[in-house]
Amino acid sequence: MTTLPTAFDLNSFDLKTYLAEYGQLVVQALERNITRYPSGNRVTHAMRYSLFAGGKRLRPILCMAAAEAVGGNKDDVMDVAAALEFIHTYSLIHDDLPALDDDDYRRGNLTCHKAFDEATAILAGDGLLTSAFEVLARAAGSGPFSPEKLLKVIARISQAAGCNGMILGQMLDIEGESKSYTQTELENVHNKKTGAMMEVSVFSGAYLGGGTPEQISALDTYAVHTGLAFQVADDILNVVGDPKVMGKAVGTDAARDKSTYPALLGLDGARDFADQLINKALQAIVSFDNKCDPLRSIATYIITRSR
Ligand code: IPE
Ligand code: IPE
Ligand code: MG
Ligand code: MG
Repeated sequence: MTTLPTAFDLNSFDLKTYLAEYGQLVVQALERNITRYPSGNRVTHAMRYSLFAGGKRLRPILCMAAAEAVGGNKDDVMDVAAALEFIHTYSLIHDDLPALDDDDYRRGNLTCHKAFDEATAILAGDGLLTSAFEVLARAAGSGPFSPEKLLKVIARISQAAGCNGMILGQMLDIEGESKSYTQTELENVHNKKTGAMMEVSVFSGAYLGGGTPEQISALDTYAVHTGLAFQVADDILNVVGDPKVMGKAVGTDAARDKSTYPALLGLDGARDFADQLINKALQAIVSFDNKCDPLRSIATYIITRSR
């Protein structure tokens, strides 16, 4: 178990209530943005199906929490938060396709291509990805932030979601099914396929929330370690998790011969590694005041979660 580097008392912060309240705000922001599209057609129906199936809403919540950690207002970043969740949900729809991980369950429901069909799932993913940038572009012309500030965020989000980030990570993950990565190589895969979007979620909140360069840099170190730990925990849950709690199947990584941390280090080794990462994440934000407690609590939750 992680030894926390601060006097931060895990029990003093009610993360469960926080995640429920902030998650509800995310759902409202998703709803506001998705209603712009005509209903009564198959692709919007499929987009809504995956978007509102549940999900922890961790990336948008990281964005909101990072904004507040530097003294910003979470209400101001809700459209950016919604765009991050649009991109994440698209990535899950495509990740589950037969050509990628070929999974049948996601967020406690049939995957999008199982509930609809492959063509619809591909298009629903495309729709969510494209809509995310529409939401961001609209935010650049309306909300409290200057177009220049939003442009920087848009550039960073496209880098994280694209071929230097998540897309490359997904490619390397698929290629890893037929070869064994070294720990350094696997770290690169996980940083890109999962870490990049978590990192940019924290960056967007911290930057738009008005963080100083020093604060943004410290939060970036937090996010890099937390993002990697999140995927290590996902790898561990794929071995030991309860599919009913997780809402998705377990044992699938081993069945597909994926390169994962438990495969590389064993379960105990993977757990130790995740602990070390979270310790480093907490160390990076040690000088922040109690406005950062949600981020501290989320970091420890990431490696102790059951879903
Ligand atoms: C699942 O992400 C995919 C990974 C990057 C490991 P989450 O575990 O955040 O999925 P939801 O959004 O809660 O369904
Ligand atoms: C998913 O990684 C990463 C992205 C969707 C970009 P995994 O394939 O390991 O996640 P799960 O286990 O299916 O949620
Ligand atoms: Mg995958
Ligand atoms: Mg998968």
